Amino acid sequence: MASNVCVANVDFPIPYKTIQEANSHLIEKLPQEHDALIATLPLEPFLERPFSFDQPYRLYKGVWMSEINIRGTLVMQQHFKSCRTDIFLASFPKSGTTWSKAMIFATLTRTNNSLNQHSLNTHNPHQCVPYMEVEFVTGRSQILEVIPSPRVMNTHLPYSLLPHSITESSCRIVYVWRDPKDVIVSMWYFAQKILGGADKMVTFDQLYERFYQGLNSYGPVWNHIFGYWEECKRRPEKIIFLKYEHILQEPVKYAKQLAHFMGCPYSETEENHGVVEQIVELCSFKTMKDFDVNKYGNLPTSENINVTNASFFKKDEAGDWKNHMTREMAERLDTITKEKFNGSGLQI
Ligand code: A3P
Repeated sequence: MASNVCVANVDFPIPYKTIQEANSHLIEKLPQEHDALIATLPLEPFLERPFSFDQPYRLYKGVWMSEINIRGTLVMQQHFKSCRTDIFLASFPKSGTTWSKAMIFATLTRTNNSLNQHSLNTHNPHQCVPYMEVEFVTGRSQILEVIPSPRVMNTHLPYSLLPHSITESSCRIVYVWRDPKDVIVSMWYFAQKILGGADKMVTFDQLYERFYQGLNSYGPVWNHIFGYWEECKRRPEKIIFLKYEHILQEPVKYAKQLAHFMGCPYSETEENHGVVEQIVELCSFKTMKDFDVNKYGNLPTSENINVTNASFFKKDEAGDWKNHMTREMAERLDTITKEKFNGSGLQI
């Protein structure tokens, strides 16, 4: 692999899709060197696989992941070199990743007059900000190296599995999390869209039980949230810890916090000209879901599954769990969440 080069700062990060297309010559052979190790890892006890498709989950250092994601993680841990200017969006799946990608990308690419023709009008947020594990497992890791600085990348890895180069450098991490009860519901609908219907997957109750046992992609969810929270308390200049429900309530406040954290705070002139509100509006659910690219486009994935861009936009609400869980199910999940967060200062 080529050594990492930090390219000079530019004002306008480019959608990753554009960089990918211009650099297809950098694609390498799929890495196989970790297959022997992966084959020794504990296998999931369930037969039904609503999320890992043709790949079973295995337990790697306390984290359940599909084999393909473990392979991506191992290659990434071995080869990824972080730059000081990098910004990583970390999240547990279905916790607000798409929205956060849009907010980060729009914030870094803002100008007073470009928002009407912004790349987000024609690119899904996942085409603007790469999902690192996938890039590493599809031989495209060298393309990550040619993204102009500041690079923005996304990972679903827990803090404990991040490459040392990320944890040890002075790059920044934006972490977004969400009430685990709504994460399950979001997962349930997302899986149905990808698999082509509820009859193709486990029941909601089975999915709930698996989730409760931590057995879902990147689970258990509590360790994921907790790992970033602990590090955020230790190094608040490195990690900003955002909650989906809070951003929903006060998007402008969090848009400003995010810009400040990323080192590009809004100027007084920008604030007076309503730029923060314009960014929030551009990235809002209402605006984004109606862009053609998000209605009709698709994303290629590492598992050769057709994921539509529309599947990332269901609602922009908190509390959908009330429509899917019994009171007992919700209480049971709240109890384990409180136990796991006990004494940390974290609250659902
Ligand atoms: P629901 O499925 O609960 O409706 P992720 O991006 O991590 O996969 O998270 C998906 C969740 O974020 C979905 O929630 C989706 O509807 C919601 N979402 C996507 N874009 C959003 C936006 N711009 N604003 C608010 N929520 C958004």
